Amino acid sequence: MTRLSGITPSGHAHIGNHLGAIRRWARQGRPGDLYFVSDLHAMTVSYNPARLRKLSRELLAVLVAAGIEPDQVFVQSDLVREVGALTWVLECACSFGEAARMTQFKQKSEGQGMVRLGLLTYPVLMAADILLQGAAEVPVGDDQAQHVELARSLARRFNTTYGEVFTVPEAVTPPTAARVRDLSDPGRKMSKSTQDSAGVVFVLDEPDLIRRKVRRAVTDSLGRVEYRPQEQPGLANLVEILSACVGKPPREVVAGFSSYGELKEAVADAVIEELRPLRERASALLADRAELDRIRKAGAERATERGAHRLSSALRLAGVG
Ligand code: TYM
Repeated sequence: MTRLSGITPSGHAHIGNHLGAIRRWARQGRPGDLYFVSDLHAMTVSYNPARLRKLSRELLAVLVAAGIEPDQVFVQSDLVREVGALTWVLECACSFGEAARMTQFKQKSEGQGMVRLGLLTYPVLMAADILLQGAAEVPVGDDQAQHVELARSLARRFNTTYGEVFTVPEAVTPPTAARVRDLSDPGRKMSKSTQDSAGVVFVLDEPDLIRRKVRRAVTDSLGRVEYRPQEQPGLANLVEILSACVGKPPREVVAGFSSYGELKEAVADAVIEELRPLRERASALLADRAELDRIRKAGAERATERGAHRLSSALRLAGVG
């Protein structure tokens, strides 16, 4: 049973990506799983091409540095012909209403001058990523679960309309850190593309910077060190981050602290230690251009080969190709 998941280079990877996704991919990965940098997804909003290329490279290094086997990673655009073709097939199995209902589309299209058509159809591209490789499980944070649901519907619909070819995938979300919040605004999720990065801890941030960001995290004036997500969302976010770093339930980790300051120091220490090996390995890899190029090329060949028969079966069943 194959697991597959991706990360979009719309900015630097942060602690939410790490705890909610990347770390799980590394820990629970099995031979045959695939994890990739979804660079085509970064084109759905205004972006800078040179920065995109650089971020894709950085994220590939982060995936490997986090402990994912080098033979399980690839970059999505290296398969642009295959996923592009399958996206078209699946777009023709998807209704406009289904795509327009996606929460992320509604949120991201708000306040944008030009809403790119790709922003609407991007969950279909995501379905193509998943279905091309025959993935059964898709480990993601909460925010992506709706997109995996769409992939399930499209797989089922194609299979019943044209013939069995796709595995029907399932989203797998983590028990904690499924939705890490912005430290400066616990009302919103931590995001790579946030303009003000004061509340976003990036996985490659230096320890001093991590400590400063955690110390400045918004809490409340209640002065009660407890785990109450509804009443104290900022504090609960810090507790959840600590909980995910030390591997104990939130209510257990919160018990030992008497002040917010004390808790924040413990969170900073835990995050710094959690990220230290990743940062060190990533910078070594980023300095070794030839090694990263080799990993990328081998990944592209493997993933292309693996998806080829599913694409040709889907085209044949759909009466084209
Ligand atoms: P992306 O790049 O937004 O996020 C990558 C992974 O990190 C998780 N995540 C979070 N988890 C906890 N707290 C947060 N604040 C947080 N922010 C992000 C996401 O849920 C995700 O698991 N469209 C996808 C990438 C993608 C993909 C795919 C995933 C493309 N094709 C196929 C799975 C299967 C995305 O933009 O993720």
